[in-house]
Amino acid sequence: MTETAVLTQKTIETIEWTPDGVVMIDQRRLPLETTFVTCRTYKEMAEAIRSMVIRGAPAIGVAAAMGVALGALEFEDIDAQMPVICDTLAKTRPTAVNLFWALDRMQRVYASVRHERLEQIRDRLIAEAQKIREEDIAINEAMGRHGAPLVPDRKTVLTHCNAGALATAGFGTALGVIRAAVRAGKKIDVLVDETRPLLQGARLTAWELQRDGIETTLITDNMAGHFLKSGRIGCVVVGADRIAANGDVANKIGTYGVAVLAKENGVPFYVAAPISTLDLSLASGDDIPIEERAATEVTNLQGEPIAPLGVHVANPAFDVTPNRYISAIVTEHGIARAPYENSLRRLTKSS
Ligand code: MRU
Repeated sequence: MTETAVLTQKTIETIEWTPDGVVMIDQRRLPLETTFVTCRTYKEMAEAIRSMVIRGAPAIGVAAAMGVALGALEFEDIDAQMPVICDTLAKTRPTAVNLFWALDRMQRVYASVRHERLEQIRDRLIAEAQKIREEDIAINEAMGRHGAPLVPDRKTVLTHCNAGALATAGFGTALGVIRAAVRAGKKIDVLVDETRPLLQGARLTAWELQRDGIETTLITDNMAGHFLKSGRIGCVVVGADRIAANGDVANKIGTYGVAVLAKENGVPFYVAAPISTLDLSLASGDDIPIEERAATEVTNLQGEPIAPLGVHVANPAFDVTPNRYISAIVTEHGIARAPYENSLRRLTKSS
């Protein structure tokens, strides 16, 4: 991985295929530093996903697809290497299903061209990875169009973690819905949970919304209940990492608590996620693998220790919100409501 350049331009791409490699904004350093990382090998891409240079379910999917394309450029014997490339990328992060969805799609494309000439195989895999990226932006805009009418005018929207342009190829899922509501002329402001331990809300969501000129207030996670009780919040909108067939939703740790508090206070709780985040092979959220991350993410803040040395730590990166707390799931094909077993299956079939 090569780290480069500080940026001055207004438009920032989360991830781009360039002749020099895959260029990604380094999300670990935002908002204090705007730097870019270039990956030129599939192993570098696996490390970028694992270390969260790039994160957020749809963005991880695009990164994995581009990782496969990088791998195809590295080897002459792609046939022998393809399982190793995909396996390495699959082992980076377990919860966001978009990663596995993208790898499956790349493998299917590979299977359809594997008897072609090497150059053709490579071109086809690069083109498919770029297509996944382009489609993701269009999908987010469609989600925005479906979700914007759900957002009440002249109210506050609460969001958790970062489900914005940075978590996708552009525009965002939850933040896409918020952006579309603002574009539609709604006078809304956004309450952003800081999202411990890695502060995706404080570092990334607040940064994105501020750049867009959307009125934003940052709160610590433990303030969410206080504000949900206040009557000020019109709805909660969050993203998702994996949605089971019954509508249970895995998302950033802390989402479950927000959902329970929203229901307790009569505030609608919406999830915005592309169809590629659905995992209909899982009957319920109990089967979703939850990533456990390093203890230092909890014991340290910006590299400085904040806890006694040797203390036991738990650090699940995601939790599962049971479907009964979810008012609706917004996808690019429309809105699903309970019972989710039927509505989600219907939406996967429609286009
Ligand atoms: O650990 P992260 O930062 O990858 O977790 C991201 C989230 O939980 C997002 O809310 C989710 O991926 C949806 S992104 C559109």
